Amino acid sequence: SKGNHRHFMEKEIHEQPEVISHTLANYLDFSKGTVRSNAAPVDFARIDRIAASACGTAYYAGLIGKYWFEHIARLPVDIDVASEFRYREMPLSKDSLALFVSQSGETADTLASLRYCKQQGLTIGSVVNVRESTMARESDTIFPTLAGPEVGVASTKAFTCQLSVLASLAVIAGKMRGTISEDDERRLVHELSEIPRYATQALKLEQQIEAISRDLSQVKHALYLGRGTSFPLALEGALKLKEISYIHAEGYAAGELKHGPIALIDESMPVIVIAPYDHWFEKTVSNMQEVAARGGKIILITDERGAAASTLKTMHTVILPDMPEIITPIIYALPIQMLAYYTAVFMGTDVDQPRNLAKSVTVE
Ligand code: F6R
Repeated sequence: SKGNHRHFMEKEIHEQPEVISHTLANYLDFSKGTVRSNAAPVDFARIDRIAASACGTAYYAGLIGKYWFEHIARLPVDIDVASEFRYREMPLSKDSLALFVSQSGETADTLASLRYCKQQGLTIGSVVNVRESTMARESDTIFPTLAGPEVGVASTKAFTCQLSVLASLAVIAGKMRGTISEDDERRLVHELSEIPRYATQALKLEQQIEAISRDLSQVKHALYLGRGTSFPLALEGALKLKEISYIHAEGYAAGELKHGPIALIDESMPVIVIAPYDHWFEKTVSNMQEVAARGGKIILITDERGAAASTLKTMHTVILPDMPEIITPIIYALPIQMLAYYTAVFMGTDVDQPRNLAKSVTVE
């Protein structure tokens, strides 16, 4: 049931601190400050690459995972949407881990990609939410997300649980590959253990985000920008907005702005900039300057340090607490989800059952 929430999506957004906490506990031992390596029965030291694939929001989770695996475990990740992956007949090495991300575990294209990799003799690992699913059954190893049933068609809690699993796996892989020290492990486990607390704080921004959504519900188009791990989150923000509010939105890597999309910027174009004060921040701000100079209306999502460092005039600034860099894509997902949710509520759309969409896409 929806409890006292208007929609399942709203309920599922609010469940995130709790379900992320359950999910993380499966991979990390908070009291010892170590990973639970037995949660990932894969010898990451012997793997030379990850070949990953997924669809939609799950694909964006995988894209963020790529940054973590490459940075923390120095493990290269090739990732593609499953509808391309399954037909590309890419050369695959048997020393690669094939990794799939899916809430339902039934998505036709992702399942076909999994079967292709199996045929090629790869070890199959799947991040799935439904443990009795076809993908779970056909995998060598499953990395469960403990999000509980997700009813809203727009994925929210499954996404942040997928991210929590991928971040944990990157730390486990880093430990096995010797790319992080024991101190690094302890620090990273501690930082990940703080996700539920920061997620609870992010939910407190709800009223401000509702007010911003009133403005956003008046527009026809919107642009989302981010760099680094905030880039896939920009893609996710645009997907979430278009699928439930039907407002046309696009996500771009901030550095791509000048390669085309900047032509769209005028006084009627809201630009949602996702910019935690991380090592990409200065670059993102310079892209924001280009937007501001052309009259674009900036909605900046940042933290205390970012707000202090940016002198730009924005239409709205959403300020999260300062937090460790590794957890920003998980925490910043919450304002992004709330922005889409409230905009859709103002538009009066069917938030939990948007037109033309199905929760589980079991046909191509
Ligand atoms: C968007 C959304 C979809 C799914 C995609 C994959 O909010 O929910 O993009 O993420 O259809 O579904 P799963 O994760 O079940 O494979």
